[in-house]
Amino acid sequence: MQPSEDEDSMPRNNEEFKTKKDRYKVLALLGKGGYGAVYSVLRLSDMEKFAIKCENAAACRKALYMDCNVLKGAAKIQSRHFCTVIDQAAVKNRFNFIVMKLIGKNLWDLRMDTAECRFTKGTSLKAASQCLISIEELHRFGFLHRDIKPGNFAVGRKESNEHHTIFMLDFGLCREFVKRGEGRLRTQRAKSQFRGTTRYAPINSMLEIDTGRKDDIESWLYMVAEWTSGGLPWRKFKATEREKVLKYKKDVRTDKEIMADLFYNCPLKEFERILKYVDELDFYSEPDYKFVYCCLQHAAAASKIKDTDPLDWDPNVPYMGPIETIGDGKVIELDVDQGMSTEVSFNKTGRDRETADATKRVEIKKK
Ligand SMILES: Nc1ncnc2c1ncn2[C@@H]1O[C@H](COP(=O)(O)OP(=O)(O)O)[C@@H](O)[C@H]1O
Ligand SMILES: [Mg+2]
Repeated sequence: MQPSEDEDSMPRNNEEFKTKKDRYKVLALLGKGGYGAVYSVLRLSDMEKFAIKCENAAACRKALYMDCNVLKGAAKIQSRHFCTVIDQAAVKNRFNFIVMKLIGKNLWDLRMDTAECRFTKGTSLKAASQCLISIEELHRFGFLHRDIKPGNFAVGRKESNEHHTIFMLDFGLCREFVKRGEGRLRTQRAKSQFRGTTRYAPINSMLEIDTGRKDDIESWLYMVAEWTSGGLPWRKFKATEREKVLKYKKDVRTDKEIMADLFYNCPLKEFERILKYVDELDFYSEPDYKFVYCCLQHAAAASKIKDTDPLDWDPNVPYMGPIETIGDGKVIELDVDQGMSTEVSFNKTGRDRETADATKRVEIKKK
């Protein structure tokens, strides 16, 4: 039988799967996307809970390969903001899957849980800082995310005392922006088909211009503005109404009223500075993450927000998120292996193919 794109091929509750290392029993569906789904599972050797991300065997885009590859890269820099992959396998003619650390609710759902569907300024700035740090880390090991949005960040589980830590998820649209071993950036492609999510997409991606590091930061800023404002000015448009959303995003830059609407209830002065700064960068720029981070700290100080102020999803406990400093964005040389093992019969046909040779040199730090 041919593998089908329909849901029948996806795991069912209580179904068990075997890998070379262990057995897992499916507990519940956690999230669903276009190419697959994420489930909580029980590892039967020790009854520990994990998450599995499954991708239909018939999916042509093979996003799971990128998920796996990026998470393995993240493990090498020992970031707190990425899940670890502990196992991987394929169920013939049904789906491929990776087994990873189980975390908690995503930032979209957490905002929807609040009474007014918005975070307080304090929570928003703390979450913004952690997400920015994770973006800098991802860039540091050579990948762009290209789908920064609240559904792709989640907090850790309370049971593991990680519910003040934010994790970055979903690397299916990632792209390597460096030429490994050559210490240089890949050349900007003449055109790049739109991918990602209309609401948070950077202007360049909507114009089908190949995106760089600064474009991930632009998406991050839309996401953060939405947290405190309660909704982006272009929220009423559908994902297919890209032209209208694009016009809105352009108008923000020229119309003070629309800018004030975008940053309603946000630290206006600092967010305006960040937007202006990001707009000055180009495809090859190495963003000054420290500058953006400082703007957040400045905004927090100006609003008298304390480091210990609780998060909205844990209002009675002082903030105990990771204490860390933001990196300088210098790309490190990283020996990322080939992701999914060959026994999983994963092919790379869906990966972005390089279309042009890279010429731009970058400084790449040795690990
Ligand atoms: N490791 C995990 N632990 C708990 N929930 C997760 C995990 N990974 C993903 N999820 C949940 O599943 C949703 C979809 O996962 P994601 O990786 O973004 O896949 P998709 O490509 O379908 O968007 C996320 O928004 C999150 O709520
Ligand atoms: Mg996602």
